[in-house]
Amino acid sequence: MTIRITAASGAGAYVEGMQLQNLTSAEIALLREGLGEHGVLFFREQSLTPEQHIALAEGFGEININRFFTPVDGYPKIAQVLKEPDQQKNIGEKWHTDHSYDQLPALGSILVARELPTSGGDTIFSSMFAAFEALEPAMKEKLSKLTATHSSRHAFGAKAYENESEKEFAGRLGNSQAATQDAVHPVIIRHPISGKQALYVNPGFTLHINELDAAESEALLAQIYAHCQNERFSHRFQWEQGSIAFWDNRATWHSAMNDYAGQRRLMHRITVAGTALTA
Ligand code: SIN
Repeated sequence: MTIRITAASGAGAYVEGMQLQNLTSAEIALLREGLGEHGVLFFREQSLTPEQHIALAEGFGEININRFFTPVDGYPKIAQVLKEPDQQKNIGEKWHTDHSYDQLPALGSILVARELPTSGGDTIFSSMFAAFEALEPAMKEKLSKLTATHSSRHAFGAKAYENESEKEFAGRLGNSQAATQDAVHPVIIRHPISGKQALYVNPGFTLHINELDAAESEALLAQIYAHCQNERFSHRFQWEQGSIAFWDNRATWHSAMNDYAGQRRLMHRITVAGTALTA
């Protein structure tokens, strides 16, 4: 069957004609190139066991086991992304880029749908390539000289769970004593695969822009975030049984919709290790 990679509206691309078990090195190279070009790849009608999910991820690099997510029973390399019917909060609703708090941020994640609500629970991806491209030249020039500090402390440290409503994450997220990472990255990066430029700050984990005072940094980040949330850079992925999304953290933000009250949603996520980022 012919493999087709078709750009999606706003962000990412749909891959057809490929089953994700036992990929050849040529198929892996094609998908890697697709990530570098489109930032996120969407697949339908797949059927991966947890072992095949692990093998798929290992085709792209070493698995980066997330410190904070509860793993799937019997599979320490797979993070469980779960919301039970009686829970109010979901994991990952705020726009974010996974692992930007690490010195070597993860390449990306492969998310497999295991149990879906009857409706809702979509994931929205925003293209940081497109957001960068749409900036005015003067803004590109300004941002290209800046760096930002990212952290896991406020998001996964003990303080993050002080509010009553956050206590609901107990059993789903934890290990708050491991939230010790801070990392500095350029605000505009060159994508490690394609060399394309992308904005690399995000509402989930970026603390401040290093070269500015607190008020200036806050104002500039707010301006960038408002720009990045423009719908023309985003694609809303509707999950079906058999759907898989493979996103590249160096090129996208994502946000999981929390609009399926009273229903269960269970996803399996594996994160692939990445490299240092450069301007
Ligand atoms: C995540 O942020 O990794 C979870 C995304 C999702 O559940 O759709």
